[in-house]
Parts: sequence; structure tokens; C-alpha cells
Amino acid sequence: VVLVTPSYAKTPPSESRFEQVLSTAHALYKDVQAGANADYIPALAKVDSNLFGIAIVTAQGKVYSKGDVDTEFSIQSISKVFTLSLAMEQQGADAIQEKIGVNATGLPFNSVTAIELNQARAVNPLVNAGAMATVSLLDGDTDKQKWGSIAHWYNDFANRKLTVLDDIYKSESATNGHNRAIAELLKSYDRFYADVDLALDVYTRQCSVGVTTKDLAMMASVLANAGVHPITGKKLMEPENVSRVLAVMTTAGLYETSGDWAYQVGLPAKSGVGGGIIAVVPGKFAIAVFSPKLDKAGNSVRAQLAIDYIAEKTDVRIF
Ligand code: DON
Repeated sequence: VVLVTPSYAKTPPSESRFEQVLSTAHALYKDVQAGANADYIPALAKVDSNLFGIAIVTAQGKVYSKGDVDTEFSIQSISKVFTLSLAMEQQGADAIQEKIGVNATGLPFNSVTAIELNQARAVNPLVNAGAMATVSLLDGDTDKQKWGSIAHWYNDFANRKLTVLDDIYKSESATNGHNRAIAELLKSYDRFYADVDLALDVYTRQCSVGVTTKDLAMMASVLANAGVHPITGKKLMEPENVSRVLAVMTTAGLYETSGDWAYQVGLPAKSGVGGGIIAVVPGKFAIAVFSPKLDKAGNSVRAQLAIDYIAEKTDVRIF
């Protein structure tokens, strides 16, 4: 997608302006029709393409929102950020770097070539290979242990009990042969750390978790607040692990267009093929935007435009 930043005067980063900025972003991009729903997971093709929600949660826990922010959709690859966070807290930052990797692939999210080009590594935890390897690395070797810890962790970030969207889970389970091949390939290189069927199924379920745009902004606000949940006050992550997760989001959060994103928008972010994108302004706030139509790399077109606009108007680009 070509991001065109409007050349309006910048808004001071005052919270009182958030509502206005969100409303304007919504009005500016609600009629953009570029892109298409993901259809390699059949259930995603059926989601209403016109849905568009924008939410901000500040590091103090204030919520601002506009549009379809209470509609549930599948979290998809945005889940990778939170499973990475859990694995890093459990296993330590070195284990992530050594056993999975933290370099950019520069290639699509489900690339097999990236594995072959990187000495049989999964490459990084935000592409499919690395995300499945991250699930394999989590404590426990049963579904109950791995899924239980993920579900509990996501709920802590969202501050509510999330559920799996069964239609998405079934549709994705029936069509995830490519991911299975990736996991088997990693296993053959001793870069996969649990049973393939088990980790693949847990990964597929985590991608099918239903979230609203507000949930995603709430979850990401923990990363904006150095690992402490702004509402519950619970310390979920070490601040140095938050920094590392944000580093991987910067290099790989939008896959092969992560460089363009950092260059243009200048914020750590993560997309999902369900149409969501989260972006984090460290110490200040988190943004989540949802709209299903994706560009060729698998990133929501309207979400990219809205986040770019919000970053510009609130003057929070960190690059
Ligand atoms: O494994 C998959 O292909 C999906 N469950 C997630 C991919 C995804 O969200 C890529 N994101 N932009």
C-alpha cells in the first residue's frame, strides 16, 4: 500500500485530541476499497470487508475508540507478539535469539525459502515458522499445558476472557498443510522443540482467538507501559523483554514491508491476516486498527493508513 501522509498541521500529543484524531482518521479512510480479504483461510473471506474500527489505550489505561471497535475478529498473526512475550518471560531472551532467531526475513510470512536461506532457522518469532517454533519452545509438552498458558496469558493482557472463534479454527485447521510442512522441515533440522501436531494445533488455535479492536489496543497497551498492565497494575513482563519484543516487531512486524513501515510510520507494529494491526508508542499509548482488506503482503490497507495518520497527527513517530 502506498501511504500518503496528509500534510495537516501536527496535533500536540495531548490526550484530549485523541477522539478528534480517531474520528478524522476514520472519516478519511472508511471509503478506501483497495486490497482484499485473505482467502487462503476460507472463513476469512466471509468477514464483512467494510468493518473498520480504531482504538487507542494509553499507558494510563484511558480508552479512545471510533467505528466497529466491538466486533470480534480473529487475532491471527498479532497473536505471535503475545506468544513471543510469554516464551521470552519463560525461557529468557537468549533462548529466543539462539533457538529461533531475531533477524528480518525480507520474505513473505509463510516462506520456506527464508528457512533454507538462514541455516535452517525459523528466522524470527513473528513469521509462521518462528511462531510455531515459539509455541514448541513454551513450557509443557501437553496441549493442556501449552494452550492453558497461552490462553491465560492472552486473557491477562486483554483483561477479559477471550474465546476461540470456532469457524476460523476449523477452517484454518482444514487448510494448514503449508504450516505443517514448515513445522516438519524445522523438526528435521532440530529447530522445533515439541511434537509437530501438538504445536501446530496450538498455533492454529492461538491464531483463531477472537478479539475486538478495543481488546487489541488493551493488549498492546501493556507493551506501551513497559510490561505493566495499565488497568490491573499487574506486572506481566520485564521491561527489557518489552524492548526486545518491540525490536522484533520493528524488523518483522509487517513481513517483507517492515522496512517501508519503519521508514514511513516509524512505530513498532504487528499485522494479522484477520485485518488487525497493533502499533506501540513506548511510554505513551497503543493503537489498534481493524479492517479486513489486505495488501499483497497480508497487511490491512485501512489499518496502515489510519496508524500512519494517527502517528503523524500526534507527533509520535520514533524514527
Ligand atoms: O498461519 C497463518 O497463515 C495464519 N494463521 C496467520 C498469518 C498471518 O496473520 C499473517 N499476517 N499478516
